[in-house]
Amino acid sequence: TKYTKVNQETCIACGACGDVAPEIYGFDEEGIAYVILDDNLGNSEIPEALWDDMEDAYEECPSESIKIANQPFRTENN
Ligand code: F3S
Repeated sequence: TKYTKVNQETCIACGACGDVAPEIYGFDEEGIAYVILDDNLGNSEIPEALWDDMEDAYEECPSESIKIANQPFRTENN
């Protein structure tokens, strides 16, 4: 199982994540990314069909703001 979350403290609104993984990452009105599936809580399992897109986003993000983990994120760790 995999989970993902955007570190919104370091996201520079470059938009790459939503380009490569539009089913996972969306943007707020300032262009800051968030995980659509769980409103960036990082506690919804990402469907396996989307893992490749998620990993592309992880690699493309210039500020290393895309976080991926094998267990749900807790709200305190970005
Ligand atoms: Fe932000 Fe990185 Fe996406 S900078 S918009 S999280 S590619």
